[in-house]
Amino acid sequence: MKIEFGTEDTKKHIISQYPYTAGVLSDGGSLIVAKDEKEQIIGFLWSFRRQIEAPVGEKIEDFINVIEVFEGHQCKGIGSALVQKCIEKAISEGVYQVRAYCDIHNRASHLLWAKNRFGISPIKMHDGSICGSFVTFVI
Ligand SMILES: CC(C)(COP(=O)(O)OP(=O)(O)OC[C@H]1O[C@@H](n2cnc3c(N)ncnc32)[C@H](O)[C@@H]1OP(=O)(O)O)[C@@H](O)C(=O)NCCC(=O)NCCS
Repeated sequence: MKIEFGTEDTKKHIISQYPYTAGVLSDGGSLIVAKDEKEQIIGFLWSFRRQIEAPVGEKIEDFINVIEVFEGHQCKGIGSALVQKCIEKAISEGVYQVRAYCDIHNRASHLLWAKNRFGISPIKMHDGSICGSFVTFVI
């Protein structure tokens, strides 16, 4: 397995194979892919960079919009390898934090972030229910 940055062509390939990803792979972001020995894409991570809209000075974050490891390849450390590549890039480019959102019913995703030492911040709604968690890795 190898982890590498994806090109525009890789992005088009992912969208053609998995049309539901078209809505999340917006322009201006960054694509990281996992490939098997046959160069087949077995997972990907898409993030975009933005200013942190809080009074903390000029700080930026990379927000992971989507991370997916395709069926048959999960639970083998590929999701963690994608996350670590994203963190590595953020460190080298002076980013303050890496962040993501996960739904409260997504146990696998919560376990992925916890394994990679992200802080987990559950979001409580007015009715007391928890809808999901923002997860943050401060560089
Ligand atoms: C979430 C996801 C990306 C994790 O990828 P992965 O390659 O399985 O991640 P890892 O192998 O690095 O696993 C991370 C941890 O989560 C646990 N885990 C992953 N999938 C799990 C599952 N289905 N059930 C229980 N635990 C799970 C693993 O046990 C692992 O911990 P461990 O190695 O200490 O046992 C993958 O499950 C996925 O693509 N899910 C569908 C898409 C999705 O929900 N994306 C996240 C949206 S925020």
